[in-house]
Amino acid sequence: MFLLFKIKYFSGIIIYIAILIIILNRISFYKFGEYNYLCCIIIYKVKFAIMEIDWKNLPFGYVKTDYNVRTYYRNGKWGELEISSSEHIDIHIAATVLHYGQEAFEGLKAFRGKDDKIRVFRCIDNARRMQSTSKGIMMAEVPDELFIEAVNKAIKLNKRFVPPYGSGASLYIRPLLFGSGPEVGVKPAKEYFFMVFVTPVGPYFKEGFKPVDMLITREFDRAAPLGTGKYKVGGNYAASLTSMEKAHQGGFANVLYLDAREKKYIDECGPANFFGIKNNTYITPKSDSILPSITNMSLIDLAISMGMKAERRPIPIEELETFDEVGACGTAAVISPIKRIVDDSNGKEYLYGNEPGPISSKLYNKLLAIQSGDEADTFGWVTVIE
Ligand SMILES: Cc1ncc(COP(=O)(O)O)c(C=O)c1O
Repeated sequence: MFLLFKIKYFSGIIIYIAILIIILNRISFYKFGEYNYLCCIIIYKVKFAIMEIDWKNLPFGYVKTDYNVRTYYRNGKWGELEISSSEHIDIHIAATVLHYGQEAFEGLKAFRGKDDKIRVFRCIDNARRMQSTSKGIMMAEVPDELFIEAVNKAIKLNKRFVPPYGSGASLYIRPLLFGSGPEVGVKPAKEYFFMVFVTPVGPYFKEGFKPVDMLITREFDRAAPLGTGKYKVGGNYAASLTSMEKAHQGGFANVLYLDAREKKYIDECGPANFFGIKNNTYITPKSDSILPSITNMSLIDLAISMGMKAERRPIPIEELETFDEVGACGTAAVISPIKRIVDDSNGKEYLYGNEPGPISSKLYNKLLAIQSGDEADTFGWVTVIE
C-alpha cells in the first residue's frame, strides 16, 4: 500500500514537471521546444501507470470503477437502463429502503481467461434469486433480460477493471434493488431503483485457500425459522454483525449458526453455506432460513459429476464429529476449508486438519478452472461477454 502511495506521489511530481515544461515553452523567453513531444509521452505513460492497479495485492473491498448502470420502476414498469459515472444515489427521505428495509442485493463474479475473454458465472441464477427475494419482501421484480443486460453492460463499460488472468483477482458484480418510493405507513413502495456496479476484488482470504476456524455460538441467530434467511436482504447481514464481531474477537473467521428454532442443526456459515464430506458424499444443510448458495449448487453438481453422492438434509450438530472435511462456500471465496470448529457453550472442539482436504481441493480447483475458462464448462454456467 505504501509502495503504491509512493509510486503515485512521484508519478504526480513527474507529471507536474512535464506540464510545467510545456507551459514554459509557450510563455517564457527560454524555450525547451525539443522536449515538448517527450513531455507529452511522459504524461501519457505516467498517467497510465498511476491508473494501473496492483492486481496481485487487491483487497476484497471497494475500488472505484468508471461507470455503473441504473434504472427505475415507475407507474408499474421498468424504464431504460441509464449509464452513470457517479458513485452516489439521490434518495427520497421517505423511501421505504431507509425506513422499512425494502432492499435486496446480489453478488456474482466475472473472470478474465487465458484467452483474454471475460466470462461471467451463472448470472441467470442470481437474477432468479433476486426475483425470489423481491417476492419475499414485496418489491418489484427485475426481469431476467433486464438483469442480464444490466450486468453485461456494467462489465463491458468497465472492461479495463477486469483483472488479468492468473492474478487471483476477479471482477465482483453487485446488483442492488430497493424501494425508492416514499411511504410513511408500513407498506411496500410503489417505485423501485435497480442498479449494477462492479469493483475488482482480490481473493476473499489474503492467505489464499487455507483452512479457517469457525465459532458455534447460541447467543445469536442470523434469521428466524420462517423469516428472511432465505432471501438476500440487507437486514440479514445487519443482524449478523454482532455475532460476527464476537467471532472475530475470538480469532475465528466467522460464526457457524445453528437452526434458530431448536439449536440442534447446522444452518448458515457466516455469509456462506456449510458443507461436510464423508463416505464419498457431499452433505449440505437443508433449511428454510439459509440462502440458496449458487456456489453450493455448483459444488453439488461437480461432486456428482466426480462420482460422489450428494445429500441436502438437516445436519445435526453431533454429526460434525463424523466428517472428514468441512467447509464454507460462496461466491467470495468459492470454498473456505474449515480446520477447527469450537462450540462456545461447552468448549467442544471439532478438528479437521491444518491443510485443505483432498476433495475440497479438487472441487475448488475444478470450479475455478470452469470459471476462468481453463476447463470446458459442460454445465452451461459460464457466459462469455462479447
Ligand atoms: C448468507 C449467505 N449465504 C450463502 C452465500 C453464498 O451464496 P453464493 O454462492 O450464491 O455466493 C452468501 C453469499 O452470497 C451469503 O451472503
